[in-house]
Amino acid sequence: MSVKAFDCTGKVALVTGGGRGIGRAIALALADAGADVVPTSRTQTQIEAVAGEIEARGRRTLVQPCDVADPSQIEALVRRVVDELGRVDVLVNAAAISPLWKRMEEVTEDEWDRIMGVNLRGAFLLSREVGRHMLERGGGSIVHIASIAGLKGVTHFGVYAVSKAGLIGLVRVLAREWAPQVRVNAIAPGWVRTDMARPVLGHPEISKGLLREIPLGRFAEPEEIAPLAVYLASDASKFATGQVFVVDGGQLL
Ligand SMILES: NC(=O)c1ccc[n+]([C@@H]2O[C@H](COP(=O)([O-])OP(=O)(O)OC[C@H]3O[C@@H](n4cnc5c(N)ncnc54)[C@H](OP(=O)(O)O)[C@@H]3O)[C@@H](O)[C@H]2O)c1
Repeated sequence: MSVKAFDCTGKVALVTGGGRGIGRAIALALADAGADVVPTSRTQTQIEAVAGEIEARGRRTLVQPCDVADPSQIEALVRRVVDELGRVDVLVNAAAISPLWKRMEEVTEDEWDRIMGVNLRGAFLLSREVGRHMLERGGGSIVHIASIAGLKGVTHFGVYAVSKAGLIGLVRVLAREWAPQVRVNAIAPGWVRTDMARPVLGHPEISKGLLREIPLGRFAEPEEIAPLAVYLASDASKFATGQVFVVDGGQLL
């Protein structure tokens, strides 16, 4: 297989969490690889800015905010992408909310529901809506952004970790049910320098401790996660499904 298999020309990609951080980097990398890309999130100004960067690369895009906790907004988003861009070939779901810095005995039901509502229920709702469309069309690739927090026990942001472990479970179930038409994979990043991670990585003592756990000795930039998403979106990964791809500087070793 040549490197041309990584080319995404002609594909239509929907990227949640596409307004900033890892989602934005993935949206731009997919546009660089040739795809038409719709970046979405709740913040109109951020997705407008990213849509502008996508257009500057000569690709088609749309601006449609969407809260992934709301099934009617997901339905409206997918309908509009299909109506105006023809289809969805790729879904990258990077939308999630921040870790809550609390031990589990302190977590309230509302906090649990809020994080699960976006990180896990939102992932299910999005997958269901886009998956129905992809199954009908006979093809597609779904990529969920999980976390190494979903692969190990962590302290102080347990609800987030449980949501990401659940997301990995969702990926495995969908990969089996929707094969061979739709491939479903997860990327599990380690610590990446984004708004979400800033309170932790900006803390001198905590970040020093974390760096000691990372063999490569630093935190990632969002652009270092994006190439894997291009691989999983493209035909280069056509035999990969149900997998969790870890990019963590060796932290899990
Ligand atoms: N940074 C890390 O160290 C790290 C490590 C492992 C995994 N991850 C994962 O990587 C993904 C991207 O995170 P990031 O670090 O890039 O964080 P970020 O900069 O905070 O970006 C999160 C994105 O999700 C969107 N979002 C949040 N709630 C949403 C909702 N209800 N509906 C739609 N969009 C929503 C945000 O936009 P709005 O707030 O405008 O809606 C934003 O675009 C997440 O899944 C995160 O769990 C991050």
